[in-house]
Amino acid sequence: MAKLGFLYKFLIRICFVAAISAKPTKPAPPDHWSYAERVHWKEHFSACGGEHQSPINLDFASAIAADFPSMMFYNYDQVLPEMLTNNGHTVMMSVKSQSNEDVPFITEGGLTDPYKFFQLHFHWGRDALSGSEHTINGQPYPAELHIVHYNTKYGNFSEAVAHPDGLAVLGIMIELQARDNIAFRHLERFDDILNPDSDKKSALTYPVPLSDLLPDRTGTFYRYNGSLTTPGCNEDVIWTVFDTPIAISQRQLDIFKRLIDSEGQQMEGNFRPVQELHDRVVYYRSEVSYKAL
Ligand SMILES: *[C@@H]1O[C@H](CO)[C@@H](O)[C@H](O)[C@H]1NC(C)=O
Ligand SMILES: *[C@@H]1O[C@H](CO)[C@@H](O)[C@H](O)[C@H]1NC(C)=O
Ligand SMILES: [Zn+2]
Repeated sequence: MAKLGFLYKFLIRICFVAAISAKPTKPAPPDHWSYAERVHWKEHFSACGGEHQSPINLDFASAIAADFPSMMFYNYDQVLPEMLTNNGHTVMMSVKSQSNEDVPFITEGGLTDPYKFFQLHFHWGRDALSGSEHTINGQPYPAELHIVHYNTKYGNFSEAVAHPDGLAVLGIMIELQARDNIAFRHLERFDDILNPDSDKKSALTYPVPLSDLLPDRTGTFYRYNGSLTTPGCNEDVIWTVFDTPIAISQRQLDIFKRLIDSEGQQMEGNFRPVQELHDRVVYYRSEVSYKAL
């Protein structure tokens, strides 16, 4: 049945391509994409074939030591009205109003401007052997959390996306532990968003302060310039990836896999493999103070 489904989609695609090829004008890129067809992303979204793409492997031995000040987290302990959405590729949490003055933001840590929280979402595997997008010293984790912020000098997210210093994303590795992580108790609400529907938003019963999702240690992290890891793959992200993971239980990870993706399949394996570094530099901030040197 799965094979027939594939064949059917393939035939539809051929018909679609034949139909648009007949027209003289270049078709707009489709907004539909899937992880199964990720090798073709660059055909419709040219940035996905760029040389500053994410994720990458973060290698401690070849990273350059950086003396960034500590990253500052503002309003990260605020509990705001939040909503969860299944967008067909991941589950995403965002605050109801960007104009709320309590919206979390980050500064310092080598960032030149304040960056305001926009949304967070997850990537996870089919099994516990993979799932994170970044790898650290070649090691993947079962899942990865992305906390997406935009540069406040551009006023809003859609405006910021067009600039090379538009976004700052925090990458947090997720490993497994025997007990549940209480900060993930909002997972109960997945029942309301099992099927993708970007309009159907489920309010959180127990809104989560972002600070509950940060690793114990935020003083050490990797920093590099990269991209969104989904189409259009815009190369406008200043990445901060912490090397201290957070942890959830296998039971909690399994709840993510109950979601249905835009292809009508079980949502899993929604991560992009690591990309080439090309001419980029990866920095590593350690907790040693270089000022004393
Ligand atoms: C974002 O900001 C730009 C420039 O100020 C403005 O033109 C646009 O309408 C804003 N978009 C949204 C969604 O608020
Ligand atoms: C990374 O991007 C920022 C913002 O565009 C830029 O200021 C900085 O020089 C870039 N860093 C590297 C190492 O390319
Ligand atoms: Zn992501």
